[in-house]
This record gives sequence, C-alpha cells and structure tokens, in this order.
Amino acid sequence: MGVMAIILWHFLGRPSADDVKEFVGGIDFGDFTDVLKNISDYDWGDLAFEEDPFVGDNTTNAWKTQGAGLSLELQNALDDMWQSEFDIAVADWQESEVLTLTTSRVAVDHSCGRVDGVMLVCNGNFGDTGWVGINEVEIEYQRQDGPGFIISSVAKMNEYYLNNADFKKRRYTMCHEIGHGFGLPHTDENPHNKDLGNCLDYTSTPENNQLPGDANFQRLRSIYIRGEGDALGGANGNANGNANGNANSGGSVQQQDSVVTSGGGNNRLRGRHLSSEVVSDTGHREDDEGQYYRRVIIRHYLPLME
Ligand SMILES: *[C@@H]1O[C@H](CO)[C@@H](O)[C@H](O)[C@H]1NC(C)=O
Ligand SMILES: *[C@@H]1O[C@H](CO)[C@@H](O)[C@H](O)[C@H]1NC(C)=O
Repeated sequence: MGVMAIILWHFLGRPSADDVKEFVGGIDFGDFTDVLKNISDYDWGDLAFEEDPFVGDNTTNAWKTQGAGLSLELQNALDDMWQSEFDIAVADWQESEVLTLTTSRVAVDHSCGRVDGVMLVCNGNFGDTGWVGINEVEIEYQRQDGPGFIISSVAKMNEYYLNNADFKKRRYTMCHEIGHGFGLPHTDENPHNKDLGNCLDYTSTPENNQLPGDANFQRLRSIYIRGEGDALGGANGNANGNANGNANSGGSVQQQDSVVTSGGGNNRLRGRHLSSEVVSDTGHREDDEGQYYRRVIIRHYLPLME
C-alpha cells in the first residue's frame, strides 16, 4: 500500500473500512481494510506536503446587487441555546465594509424551511450524518446563458454533534455556515494542515479559526464591489441590466424534466469525500408566462472533524 493510497484515503475523509466498502460498491480491496486499521493513528501533522491549502470547489456565488456591497436579512430561526453564537457571528461578519446585515428573530424552525430573499439560520438534530453544519444556497438563472444569482440560503447547525459541544466549536460552525450564505467558498478543505485563521478553513482545532479573515473579506469585495477583482462584480453589473430582459429572445429555451443530480433528501456524508454538491437542479424551464428559469441548490458541508 503506497503513500498515494493513504493520501487518497485521507482526502476521502478518512472513512471507516465499512464506509469504504459501501463507497466503492463491493469492489474487493484485499487487505486495504488492514491498512485502514493500521494507519488510523498516523500522525498527519508530520506530512509537510499538506501545508498548501486545498479546495475542491473554489467558486463564489452571489446575491444580485448593484455592485456597491451586499445588504442582506438574516432570519434567526434558532432556539434559545444558539442566540449568543448567532449574535457574535453576525457582528464578526459585519466587520466587512461590504456587508450590511439586518437580523430578525422568527419562530424556531428545526425543519429549516428556505425563505426567498433571505438567509435563514437554524438548528436541529439531523442525526449522525457526518456533518456538523450545512449551508444550502439556491441559485436562480433567469437567462439560459446568463449568470445565476443566490435567491435563498439556509444555514443549518447539527445538534447531534453540537448540542453539548465546546462553545468555540459552535461559534466556528456558526461563522462558517453564515459565510457560505454570502456566496463564499471554503478557503481550505484539509483539516490537518496549518490553520489559516479564518472560519471558512476546515480545522480540527476550531479555536484557531473563530473569525472571518482577510481572505474572506477580500473575496467579498471581489464579489460585491464593482470593479474590484474578478468577474462576478462585473457579472452583477450586467445582470442588473439584462436579467429581466426577454429570456426567450434567443429562441432556445428548452423544456426539460426536473433533474435531481444527487443527494436529494440524503443528508448523509459519512464515507463520502464531499465538501459541496449540487442536490437539486430543475433544469431549463419556463414559468406560466413563458419566462425562462432554472434553479439549482448547492450544499456546502462542514464535515465532522476530530
Ligand atoms: C498491519 O499491521 C499489522 C501489525 O503490525 C501487520 O502484521 C500487517 O502486516 C499490517 N498490514 C498491512 C496491510 O500493512
Ligand atoms: C481560490 O480562489 C481565490 C480567488 O481567485 C484565490 O485567491 C485562492 O488562492 C484560491 N484558493 C485555492 C485554495 O485555490
């Protein structure tokens, strides 16, 4: 068993032997399971090559704005136990000059129903799923060849792991999931390398990554301030002018059946190496007035990391 296999196993999320069997669908890996047992106590801190940040999906998503910052309402559907984590995380993100956040406390919602135009933040016991937090952003496309924009975000805290967890772990999870709701990607998906000091970095030592960091704030500027950096700022400008135009002008809108790409209702992460996935996609559709639309839900995972 070579080093590459060990690295592979590591980046698969260090699954158990049973999960590996499930994952590969019964392929006979011979003594692979022995190796899993043998290396479970390996000291990953010794591996120098793990220092570089690693991200599977480094793309940003964006709410539609005028290119001068993001104003967003966060609906607080959390129960009493989560109020201070929420208040602290909102204040920490508000340190970005790009963000103007308002909060409203709504009825506790353990089922975390999405709401148009807002980020809903909630907690619930989602079970032994392998993830401590999830953010699901829904993206809407109004033109077939145009940019998609976030129309809702749901940040979920999993009580199964967080109920009696250390405050620092809860605070890290809250900061992390709220960050995705602005459209931010992870900054690093290897929990065993050096901590980057921002809460979108996977870590097994949450006390090091309690706050949003400069990397996150810079990325927010590039998404929401026109003329700052990458394409999304420009895309926002364009979309403001064009997104409500006639979607049929190209004459190429197709009607397709609803497509669920993967996952669907399956919230289970264990044994799957996933930091994000598309869990629903309507495909290209028209509404009753013949307007083009397509909606996609992208789920970002914060895996259980011990
Ligand atoms: C796992 O460790 C045991 C005990 O040290 C050893 O006998 C066995 O050969 C190892 N298995 C593999 C696949 O390295
Ligand atoms: C992700 O993209 C940003 C912006 O392009 C870049 O600065 C950063 O280094 C990338 N991160 C990784 C881990 O590739």
